[in-house]
Amino acid sequence: MNTTVDQADFFKTLEEKSDGGKLRGDYSNCDERYVVRQDWAAYTPEQHALWRKLYQRQAKLVPDRACELFIESLDRLNAADEIPRLDRTTEALHKATGWELVAVPGLIPDLTFFEHLAERRFPVTVWLRDPGEFDYIVEPDIFHDFFGHVPLLFNPVFADHLQQFGKGGLKALRLDALKYLARLYWYTVEFGLIESPRGLRAYGAGILSSGGEIEYCLTSPKPRRIGLDAERIMRTLYKIDSYQETYFVIRDYEQLFDATAPDFAPIYERLKTQEALPADTLLPGEVNIPPNA
Ligand code: PHE
Ligand code: FE
Repeated sequence: MNTTVDQADFFKTLEEKSDGGKLRGDYSNCDERYVVRQDWAAYTPEQHALWRKLYQRQAKLVPDRACELFIESLDRLNAADEIPRLDRTTEALHKATGWELVAVPGLIPDLTFFEHLAERRFPVTVWLRDPGEFDYIVEPDIFHDFFGHVPLLFNPVFADHLQQFGKGGLKALRLDALKYLARLYWYTVEFGLIESPRGLRAYGAGILSSGGEIEYCLTSPKPRRIGLDAERIMRTLYKIDSYQETYFVIRDYEQLFDATAPDFAPIYERLKTQEALPADTLLPGEVNIPPNA
């Protein structure tokens, strides 16, 4: 089976989806899996300085706000001082959990993304945001991909979970159900919260790499916080250009692994007959978990 994605098709879909129809990255040198070489020498001193500022701010915020597993693994990154060399992190990561990082120009097609995950390769964008985007970026950059996602890849159980997600993504594509799985990915891997003895904590990468949302998601009275229910999540729309209107909360990782273990095919069939729910929905009977004080 030829599973490579035609690049012309990919760019055409993007034009239809996004305003400018343009991505930030340089796609001219990537291979058929969208892998590039990270040209580390090309990063400027200003970019390394910006990385340090981003890292320092976030490292200060995580101790009271991130889940224990993330905090434990953060030191393994060894990336406080400069933009990391992905091949060096890969050496340590491969020893720990058998995962590799691959450099990519930016967003890549869904199929390619899930193929990488299914083969224990995590795609990391090579470009860094501009100084004016210190607080907020729309497309994921190297800081989000690396700081947000890589720590949990050092945990063997979470690392396995993400590989299962990759396989699940390929299956969802075959079943014409990718949008449902994408919602699950969004509300767990990217924006998930977890209960802890000291209140709510974040485990989602989109939160952990954000200076503002990491506090907002835990303490603001505005968003909804609902206990994990995979089928409910897969019915729920999401916004990519604002803080989330709803967060889904797990009791522990077991709950997440148990909820994602079953065959989703019958769930997809059901979902295809139902209306999607707006991101700010609270259904009758759902408990809105209070924020941290
Ligand atoms: N159980 C899912 C399926 O049958 C696959 C999956 C596993 C999805 C883990 C997410 C996380 O499609
Ligand atoms: Fe991400």
